[in-house]
Amino acid sequence: MSKELVLYFSVYGTAKAVAEEIAKQTGADLKEIEPVVPYDSDRNHYNALAAYAKKEHDENMRPAIKNEINIADYDTIYIGYPMWWYTFPMIIYTLFDKYDFSGKTIIPFNTHMGSRDGGTYKTIQKLEPNAKVLRGLPVEMGTAESSSALAVSKWLNSLK
Ligand SMILES: Cc1cc2nc3c(=O)[nH]c(=O)nc-3n(C[C@H](O)[C@H](O)[C@H](O)COP(=O)(O)O)c2cc1C
Repeated sequence: MSKELVLYFSVYGTAKAVAEEIAKQTGADLKEIEPVVPYDSDRNHYNALAAYAKKEHDENMRPAIKNEINIADYDTIYIGYPMWWYTFPMIIYTLFDKYDFSGKTIIPFNTHMGSRDGGTYKTIQKLEPNAKVLRGLPVEMGTAESSSALAVSKWLNSLK
């Protein structure tokens, strides 16, 4: 088994597309963070999702994760998510509450519509002080959907 894992949360599929590109270029395993209560992925319902996500954020909720994630087998874990309300979705807090990434190397990436990483890479280092957090990759939504291959390969090379 590969010692690298690409772990991602995605509702509209763009963080998923970047995750798949990273897995393709690195040969890492790929795993989705699945919520117990699914989010509405119909982009016509954006306002409803925005309101729901804001409530989760304002109430500091910890949406439950449905699937078990084996992080023990991996030394290096890429973690990807969309930017939601200037930070990561609250389910990413659930991930860091539930799993201990001490001793692991975390490589974050995210999709966004202008906020870039919104300071979330620093938040990850605060939440996981005993992990090594490498320089992350923010990918604008349109690029994530059309092709992130070049951005991903340049970034992966810069981490070597
Ligand atoms: C609830 C919600 C909140 C968002 N908040 C932000 C934000 O604060 N800053 C930003 O740049 N983009 C924001 N976006 C845009 C998403 O980051 C962008 O659409 C992203 O590509 C979605 O990733 P996904 O396709 O993996 O779900 C928001 C989108 C949603 C649905």
